[in-house]
Amino acid sequence: MKKELKDWIVPWLFTSREYNVGILDKAMENPGNARLMLNENPIPPSEKVIEAVVESLRHGNWYPDSFLRLRTKIGEMYGLGPDNVTLCNGSSDTIDAMMRVFLQPGDEFLLSTPTFELFPPRAELCNAKVVQVPVREDDLNYDVDAMLNAINDRTKLILIINPNNPTGVFIDDADLKRFCETGVPLCVDEAYLDYNPDRPTKADLIKEYPQVFLSVTFSKAYGFAGIRFGFVLGSEEMIAAFNRMFLPWNVSRMAAAAAEAIIDNPEEVKAKVEHNNKWMAIFSEELKNLGLKPFPAHGNYMLIDGTMTGKTTEEIVQAGLDNNIFLKKIGEIHGKSGYFRVTPGTDEENERFLSFIKSYFR
Ligand SMILES: Cc1ncc(COP(=O)(O)O)c(C=O)c1O
Repeated sequence: MKKELKDWIVPWLFTSREYNVGILDKAMENPGNARLMLNENPIPPSEKVIEAVVESLRHGNWYPDSFLRLRTKIGEMYGLGPDNVTLCNGSSDTIDAMMRVFLQPGDEFLLSTPTFELFPPRAELCNAKVVQVPVREDDLNYDVDAMLNAINDRTKLILIINPNNPTGVFIDDADLKRFCETGVPLCVDEAYLDYNPDRPTKADLIKEYPQVFLSVTFSKAYGFAGIRFGFVLGSEEMIAAFNRMFLPWNVSRMAAAAAEAIIDNPEEVKAKVEHNNKWMAIFSEELKNLGLKPFPAHGNYMLIDGTMTGKTTEEIVQAGLDNNIFLKKIGEIHGKSGYFRVTPGTDEENERFLSFIKSYFR
């Protein structure tokens, strides 16, 4: 007797969480709305990047190689060699691969909550168990003791996002070391570090701890969310593991050309970072003036505690939509609703956000 299609499919496909991308289609259908919900960069790529991509199309008939020159440049940015770098199609590619590198069915993936919502489903799609430890209630920082206590024999992978998304905070160096010392594979996700030119990367950890790797994306400060480019930094053994797990042609010639062009033009990233950081400071000030609590943020997003206003997250996000602004809904934290997240957009979008927020919360 023939089975139905659903009976052929691995069962955890149906039980794993789904990452909802519906908001992207909604945003495309409503181009007049400010896209302040996805931690995107509001500034498009420069002409230099566009020209490099167009030039790369001349060899669009050739398969991509391992981009040794680009890996060498990236390695130099971190004091590492090209064999400590592997490239990927945005760090979502890394998120997917790292689960398959380390997790067998029944193994545990340890992270904190709230978090970037793509992490849990990709672990669940390996039939692994996701163990999420809530951030501390007072400052929303990692509850390091509770996370360390949650480690057991089945824990095969730990995640620390630094600075964290959506809470925006950095983990203390000493606490990060405590995770390294466990010996369990550790992903340090530095998606937002570039917004902090004074903060050093944690790439040196990989020299001391071969089980630690860094995940980096160009989707944020570099503004490549649609181009898709990222990389993993790790020991040669770690990178060899990722190389086997990644598909051989996961980075297109166009994405690699764009990445090299922007690396060769650091002024472009600097301008994008300055635009973001200027508006983050303005948002923080204005939100505080309204009696809301913006958390100290070190990326291109700000988590805002509006629980004291009596309005729920859903109400706030809907009111934003009514004013042509997409905001990010944040689930309850410690049982309280009223948190939301905003990412600076263009000057005009930011002015629109401020006038909305002032009339809504006054
Ligand atoms: C912490 C974190 N890591 C990774 C990503 C995914 O980035 P990419 O666009 O490179 O897939 C995001 C996206 O928002 C993120 O917040």
